[in-house]
Amino acid sequence: MSESYLDWNNSIDILNKAFDANLFVLIIGPKGTGKTSLVRDFAEIKGANLESINFSLRTRESHLIGTKTLTDGTVSFDEGILIKSMREGNMLYLDEINSAEADVLLRLDEALDDRRQIGLKESTGEVVKAKDGWFVIATINPLTHSGTKELPPQLLSRFPVRISMEYPPEDIELQIVKKYVSGDFDADILQGIKLANTLRQAAAVEELFYAPSMRETIAYGKLLEKGTSPKEAASIVFGNVYTQWGNIEHQKVRDIITSMFGS
Ligand SMILES: Nc1ncnc2c1ncn2[C@@H]1O[C@H](COP(=O)(O)OP(=O)(O)OP(=O)(O)O)[C@@H](O)[C@H]1O
Ligand SMILES: [Mg+2]
Repeated sequence: MSESYLDWNNSIDILNKAFDANLFVLIIGPKGTGKTSLVRDFAEIKGANLESINFSLRTRESHLIGTKTLTDGTVSFDEGILIKSMREGNMLYLDEINSAEADVLLRLDEALDDRRQIGLKESTGEVVKAKDGWFVIATINPLTHSGTKELPPQLLSRFPVRISMEYPPEDIELQIVKKYVSGDFDADILQGIKLANTLRQAAAVEELFYAPSMRETIAYGKLLEKGTSPKEAASIVFGNVYTQWGNIEHQKVRDIITSMFGS
């Protein structure tokens, strides 16, 4: 197991069982809740080669399946990440799968079907069958996340094991932040985590436009380590970002910071 990942909600155990049962896994959760770190850690534990693709509106079917190339008058087929990982039996990580256009995802249905095979109609028509051990993990951000779409139900059904990642309880988040920060700042870090949770709750009920992630609580801890005062670090990391949505939004958060850190 990697030194840095803290498996606080038993996700590694679920992944292990899914792997043994040859069931693909969907991880659902907001940004910065440790989805990518979890998958990397699991691949490391399994000693598996991890291949990743981060989906966006620009992702094309050719990235997954492959493209024809012409070299010195000879046409060949440059296989995409899906086909390569099936042939090699690697671990495939489909990150933010619900950011892609639905038509890009169509071919995944075929490959992720129980037969675990796909016909290469783009080239020779060969049917590629996944090597034993081929394993697929996908993540989606909740639908509130901009640019995300609902996953087509037939694709959703190909990931029958679902792990929900949320922000951890305070004491756990403190332990996670401390993996990245040395020095004795527990009380001050905890205060930053409490602030983050207050902002997350406000964002959840749409009182604020933005919820800070664990990247921010880690950054806050790192600034403390560099000698920044807790209140200043809180303003820099948690407060100032809200000016994007105007002064009223920013002032709301400044008031919260003042009430928690003093004026
Ligand atoms: N359980 C954990 N143990 C150790 N570090 C963690 C844990 N959870 C989150 N982190 C740290 O928090 C940060 C964000 O985590 P990560 O990138 O894995 O989140 P994510 O859910 O993939 O985010 P996004 O949805 O934005 O891609 C990273 O620096 C990561 O190392
Ligand atoms: Mg990620």
